[in-house]
Amino acid sequence: MSENTLRGKQIVLGVTGSIAAYKAVSLLRTLAQEGADVSVVMTSAATQFVTPLTFETLSGRPVRQGLFADAESMPHLQGTQEADLVLVAPATANCLTKCALGLADDLLSTLLLAARCPIVMAPAMDGEMWNHPALVAHVRTLRERGVVVLEPAEGPLASGLVGTGRLPAERTIVDAVYARLSHQPARAAACLGPGRQADRRDWVGQRVLVSAGPTREPIDAVRFITNASSGKMGYAVAAAAAERGAEVVLVSGPTALPSPPNVQTISALTAEDMYQALDARFAWATVLIMTAAVGDFRPRHPVPTKMKKHEWNGMPLDLERTPDILESLSRKRTHQVLVGFAAESEDLLANGRKKLHQKNLDVIVVNRITGDHSAFGSETNEAILLPRDGEPRHLDRLPKRVLADRLLDMVQDRCVPSHVPLAQPKSEGIRRIH
Ligand code: CTP
Repeated sequence: MSENTLRGKQIVLGVTGSIAAYKAVSLLRTLAQEGADVSVVMTSAATQFVTPLTFETLSGRPVRQGLFADAESMPHLQGTQEADLVLVAPATANCLTKCALGLADDLLSTLLLAARCPIVMAPAMDGEMWNHPALVAHVRTLRERGVVVLEPAEGPLASGLVGTGRLPAERTIVDAVYARLSHQPARAAACLGPGRQADRRDWVGQRVLVSAGPTREPIDAVRFITNASSGKMGYAVAAAAAERGAEVVLVSGPTALPSPPNVQTISALTAEDMYQALDARFAWATVLIMTAAVGDFRPRHPVPTKMKKHEWNGMPLDLERTPDILESLSRKRTHQVLVGFAAESEDLLANGRKKLHQKNLDVIVVNRITGDHSAFGSETNEAILLPRDGEPRHLDRLPKRVLADRLLDMVQDRCVPSHVPLAQPKSEGIRRIH
């Protein structure tokens, strides 16, 4: 696979009977645009929402629907033997349940049971259904078998209620496909049933502290200084580490992102909040990955009320430095592996090296934050991985979730297996947001 396309990948797209089935049309187009060869399998319920003709026209292939609909002798095996990945989007509660139980009463469920390739499922359903203990148990079963079940998104649902159950964003689904395929050699078959290779869990035993997002430094009750960080890189790192078996705590500045699965997410508003939250957990961690764009300056005297605009006239902002979190924590390190992210607009390698040594890091990820391919806010990232003890590795533009895995691969070589007894993280004054 070229570093940032799905060229040559055979993907079976399963579409089940959810109102979100129409979103699979755009998903099919995106996968095809990124080079994948996509064939579609629909359940009969899905055809109530979107016609097979739509998918046939866009994929240029017949849509397969019934176990007995065509003349193929083994329709459930057709296409799946060569497939690189099966993606079910949207995946209903019924589909997830059948897959967990190994039921095979239609073409898609039979195909999922027969698949020898990785499976990614993007749920869409009512919030009550997603949170039902039965479904929670089935999703756990699927994940334990190595099936990637994405977290549904929050927002307005077809029922008219607001909750967790919307089909994840298209980019999240496509990133999950990239991530799963990028691990294919090591993770071989994320399949159902005995005798098949389990998912890669090569970070079990590591305790990973990740920071993400911007910070906010108040000027008055409503105004603040911040930056353009979206938090996507840090959330991708946290998700990747958790998926690979690590215990993960994510300390996040204000972002619009949902907490990744199996990650404890702590909110922190200012640089000082973030420092306190990370410092309280640093002894516990075996690895610290600082992706956060921590504000370097804050108003020395923030005003607790809303200032009137006439009060602003000609008033200079008196700023002071915030703590350099990474530098402070690196002075306290005992066993931890430390990773920083450098946001640079010029002399990327030289500036990255300077920060690597100044902050006493093991690895620094150097990002360009200007131009068309700025890492800020983007779904992708073009980065240099710069280890203290090795050669820089220049990566092509990659989805952040894939970059996260590449970074973990590099950091892993520097981690000692965790023998340090679990220190209890302090939690006073720190609010869990998910
Ligand atoms: N960082 C930190 N505390 C700060 C500022 C930055 O811990 N107050 C961390 C970031 O999370 C990142 C690394 O230091 O991992 C480098 O951040 P960057 O913004 O690139 O550099 P700065 O240290 O702020 O230096 P400069 O602004 O001069 O580029």
